[in-house]
Amino acid sequence: MNVIDDSGEHANELLEAHAHVWNHMFGFIKSMSLKCAVELAIPDIIQNHGKPMTVTELLVAALPTLNPTKACNIYRLMRILVHSGFFAQKKLSNDAQEDGYVLTSASRLLLNDNPLSVTPLLKAMLDPVLTKPWDFLGIWFQNNDYTPFDIAHGKTFWEYASHDPKLGNSFNEAMASDARLVSSVLIDKCKGSFEGLNSLVDVGGGTGTLGKAIADAFPNLECTVFDLPHVVADQQDSGNLKYVGGDMFEDVPVADAVLLKWILHDWNDDECLKILKRCKEAITNQDNFTSITNQDRQVMIKKKVIIIDMVLMEDNGVNDEIRKSIETQLLFDMLMMTLLTGRERQEEEWSKLLSAAGFNDYKITPILGLRSLIEVYP
Ligand SMILES: C[S@@+](CC[C@H](N)C(=O)[O-])C[C@H]1O[C@@H](n2cnc3c(N)ncnc32)[C@H](O)[C@@H]1O
Repeated sequence: MNVIDDSGEHANELLEAHAHVWNHMFGFIKSMSLKCAVELAIPDIIQNHGKPMTVTELLVAALPTLNPTKACNIYRLMRILVHSGFFAQKKLSNDAQEDGYVLTSASRLLLNDNPLSVTPLLKAMLDPVLTKPWDFLGIWFQNNDYTPFDIAHGKTFWEYASHDPKLGNSFNEAMASDARLVSSVLIDKCKGSFEGLNSLVDVGGGTGTLGKAIADAFPNLECTVFDLPHVVADQQDSGNLKYVGGDMFEDVPVADAVLLKWILHDWNDDECLKILKRCKEAITNQDNFTSITNQDRQVMIKKKVIIIDMVLMEDNGVNDEIRKSIETQLLFDMLMMTLLTGRERQEEEWSKLLSAAGFNDYKITPILGLRSLIEVYP
């Protein structure tokens, strides 16, 4: 087959396509190289060094754990991570022979003592229990199994997490790390969304990181963290925060507002409808309004469901940064399909789902990067 024409243009196109396929074929190497750097604690070692760190200094600091015959390969791991923006190189001084590695804003998010560290999420997502289901995605498309995760492990993700404390704890810690990031933004930028409410239940609230932060920021708000019984079993009530174990498909505790952070994207539309109906019952138990007294006046506040999830962005040939955000959203969508029955949704899909569950109105505030705050009213 002759694939090259006289101008050579066809050849360029072919080689570009070839490189594109290679880049995707080896995309997993990016994840695994990053995981390796985190396992070797390289971001923490560079941070503790306090100034640009040469590869020799890195080897000395990391040597206790490195096999001496492999240490000479560390610069290769660093080279790809510099290329992908996790580290940068800086001149030590004008006459220095060697550059030193420094952290970037991405690797600062992988430091162990950063309260907003993404490391717990990275470790949980790249645990072999969660990566194995990807081998079964093709088979899942062709058979009747519930999810690729079920094919890989013979049970649902939630069953696995409830029976395997290692995965359960790692997943709960991953969720808590994300909740720390979200609560700092939420309490800073979305205060108004919680003001005037007397009670709130965080449905599927995990071990309560977000619930605790909201309870502390709003001392007059009665907060309940509601999750599966084994998830909340060891948690202690305190002040205006309490824990309740149960099943959100059966019953949701009554409150002025229900918070659903990273819940609905775990489930398909039928399952979401059931959850949303339980949430609506919980907030409309007596009527659609609650009231507070403000400067001797009674103020009526609309009860609501507050969703924190993605709203898929439209891909209309926009700039590179937006295209990258869209790609990340689509990766999450694939993750939901592989581990669970869920999906990420476009605004139109949210709108249909919310109205099918009996809600009348919603407001989307795109305030959390790739995710939005969606306030939903009965
Ligand atoms: C993706 S995590 C989100 C946790 C937390 N909202 C956050 O974003 O940090 C989903 C949560 O739903 C909980 N969950 C799953 N099935 C549930 C059910 N039937 N009833 C109540 N909670 C459930 C899980 O235990 C888990 O804590």
